[in-house]
Amino acid sequence: MMGRLQGRVTMVTGAGQGIGEAIARRFAGEGAVVIGIDRNVETLKAVCAALPEAVAWPIDVTDHQAMERCFSQTVERFGGIDVLVNNAAISYYVPVVDTTLAQWHETLAVNLEAYFLAAQLAARRMIERGCGRIINVASTQAIACEPLVGAYAASKGGVLALTRSLGVELAPYNILVNAVVPGCIHTPMSVINGIDETQTELFKEWYAGRRKIPLGRPGEPHEVAGVVLFLASDDCQYMTGQMLVVDGGLTITF
Ligand SMILES: NC(=O)c1ccc[n+]([C@@H]2O[C@H](COP(=O)([O-])OP(=O)(O)OC[C@H]3O[C@@H](n4cnc5c(N)ncnc54)[C@H](O)[C@@H]3O)[C@@H](O)[C@H]2O)c1
Repeated sequence: MMGRLQGRVTMVTGAGQGIGEAIARRFAGEGAVVIGIDRNVETLKAVCAALPEAVAWPIDVTDHQAMERCFSQTVERFGGIDVLVNNAAISYYVPVVDTTLAQWHETLAVNLEAYFLAAQLAARRMIERGCGRIINVASTQAIACEPLVGAYAASKGGVLALTRSLGVELAPYNILVNAVVPGCIHTPMSVINGIDETQTELFKEWYAGRRKIPLGRPGEPHEVAGVVLFLASDDCQYMTGQMLVVDGGLTITF
């Protein structure tokens, strides 16, 4: 049976673990060629080695020259790029008054500038072929915030604005640009200073027990990957510049 992404060339940043890994696996399961990008060589190689057709690019998304090489060689080898998923991101958990300028710059460089750069590199190739999909992973912190994540929240707000801007500008070339907005997802990123945030008493009592998250549990990476697959697939045709919130209802509660 043909997969929903059969033969499509897909690029996924942060494919070494968590949500990016789940996206890479789901895409591969639907017949896609996966170009995985991650700065963690070991995890990335392990993920890509388990997929039927994948290439591992162990690079940092903020290394502009390395990213340029990755995109050029992908086009040379596979003839084009069908889907880009901007997913790699970082977060510091620091009060705003203690956040250093270096932390602010690093957060913006990984979470926003690198999304812009990869979208630019992909769009140049997609414009030539008159089609493509760009999917940006944002966060509910761009919509409703907790303390300690000022730079992260700002970067994710930027991702949503960038998604709308690219959606408008690239629509004439049949390139659809959308964002997925995860809430609390159970990944290595949810382990903060050695504590799994989804296992704390606060989480169990407030988010799950009292249903601050109406679905009463954290999400799993594959539950985000399924939505990203929809945005990358032919089922998504008349939709661009939008955000799909995958948060178990977190942001619809008081
Ligand atoms: N886990 C959550 O609860 C949650 C919630 C909202 C949004 N998100 C977003 O989902 C995406 C994935 O998050 P996750 O939880 O899977 O994170 P994660 O930390 O588990 O994985 C992120 C991956 O990105 C890679 N990476 C980080 N910086 C990089 C860089 N400069 N160059 C190359 N690779 C880099 C890491 O090595 C890692 O493999 C991120 O955009 C994150 O902001 C996650």
